[in-house]
Amino acid sequence: MADVRVSLCGVELRNPFIASSGPLTYGAKGIRRCFAAGAAAAVTKTLCKLPAENPIPHIVSLGKGTMLNTEKWADLSVQQWVEQEFPALRGADGVVIASLGHTVEEVELIAPQLARVGDPIRMLEVVSYRAVDMVPMVKAAKRLTDFPVLAKISPNWPDLMEVVDGCLAAGADGITAADSLGPVLHIDIETARPALSGDYGYAWMSGTAIKPVIVRIVADICRRHPDVPVVATGGVTTAEDAVEMFMVGATAIGAQTAPMLQGVSWFEKTANKLAKWLDAHGYRSPAEVRGRALPAIVPGEDKRPLTFFFDADKCTECGRCVTVCAYEARHLEEGKVMRLDTDACRSCGLCVTVCPTEALTADRV
Ligand SMILES: Cc1cc2nc3c(=O)[nH]c(=O)nc-3n(C[C@H](O)[C@H](O)[C@H](O)COP(=O)(O)O)c2cc1C
Ligand code: SF4
Ligand code: SF4
Repeated sequence: MADVRVSLCGVELRNPFIASSGPLTYGAKGIRRCFAAGAAAAVTKTLCKLPAENPIPHIVSLGKGTMLNTEKWADLSVQQWVEQEFPALRGADGVVIASLGHTVEEVELIAPQLARVGDPIRMLEVVSYRAVDMVPMVKAAKRLTDFPVLAKISPNWPDLMEVVDGCLAAGADGITAADSLGPVLHIDIETARPALSGDYGYAWMSGTAIKPVIVRIVADICRRHPDVPVVATGGVTTAEDAVEMFMVGATAIGAQTAPMLQGVSWFEKTANKLAKWLDAHGYRSPAEVRGRALPAIVPGEDKRPLTFFFDADKCTECGRCVTVCAYEARHLEEGKVMRLDTDACRSCGLCVTVCPTEALTADRV
C-alpha cells in the first residue's frame, strides 16, 4: 500500500488532507471531529481582533459540490481561543494550524499570544482581504513567533505572483493557494433578491467550480518556486482532484467545501482512495507524483489534427459524441458505424471527452 504521509514545512502529516479554515474548524470541538474523521491537520477559523458577527443567511449550496458564502472570520474571541479552544486541542490526533488575519496590527496583537500558547499550535497561516497587507503580516508573524508560517493568498488579487514572491522573501515557509473566489452574485429568482445577505449580496465561491482556477494558480507558483511547499486549497472533491494538485506541485491539500457537503468522513475516505489510486498507478507516495505535470506546462500550441479511435464493442449508441459536435462532423449510423466528416471536424476534442464508455478515444485527449 502506498505511504500517504507528507511533510509540510518540517511537520509530518499522516496523510495530505487538511481541514482548511472555515465552519468545520470553528473551535476545538469541530477540529477534533475533523481529526477523528481522518483529517491530518486543521486550520482554525481565522482569528481576528474582534469576533465576527455574520450576515444571515451566509452559506448556500449551488449543487454539484459548489457553495457560495459571505461568512466572516472566527466568531469566537481570541481570548476564548487562547484560554479554552487551543488548550482543549492538546494531545489531539492531528496538526493544529492557527489562522491569523487580516492586518499587520492584528498579527502584532494576536501572534505573541499564540506564541505563549505554544502546544498544540504547530504552524501559523496568515490571511488577508488585501494583498498589500500580506508581506508586513508575514514579517510580523516571523518576527513574533518561531512557528512555520504559511501565507494564504487570494485568487482575487491581480498581481498574485508578486504577492507570492513578496511573502516568500519576507520569510513565509509555504503558500496556501487559495481562498474562495469572488465576489460573485447569486439571485434567488423566487424572491428577486440576492440569495445571501451581505453588502450588495456579494459572495465568495468554493468547491468544485473553482478547482481549475486553483490548479492554474498552484501550477504558476510551483513552476516559479519548485521547492516551496504549497497547500492546494479549492475545489478538491475526489482523490483524483488531489492527484491533479500534486501533479502541478502541491505538497498537501486543503478542503472545506467537500467535507462540509459530504460529511467529515470525506477525509478518511478520500485518503484511502488516494492510497488506492497511487497503488494502481505504481506510485509509492504523493511525493512521487509531485510536479509530474510541470514539464508539460509550457508556452506554445500544438496544431496537429487528432487521430480518433472507435471501439464499437464499447459503444452504447448514446449519441452524445454526435450531439456535442457544433460542426455536425460526427455521425453514428445503423449497426454502430461511426463516420467522421474530416473536412468539417476541427479536432476540438469535445466529442471524446463526453463519451461515457471510452468507446471513442483520440491520440491526445
Ligand atoms: C463558509 C466558509 C467559510 C470560510 N472561512 C474562512 C476563514 O475564516 N478563513 C480563511 O482563511 N478561509 C476561509 N474559507 C476559505 C476556505 O478555507 C478555502 O480556502 C476555500 O473554501 C476553498 O476551498 P474548498 O473549495 O475546499 O472549500 C471559508 C470557506 C467557506 C466555504
Ligand atoms: S473533435 Fe470536435 S469538431 Fe471533430 S468531431 Fe469531435 S466534436 Fe466535432
Ligand atoms: S459517446 Fe461514446 S458511447 Fe456514446 S455514441 Fe459516442 S462513441 Fe458511442
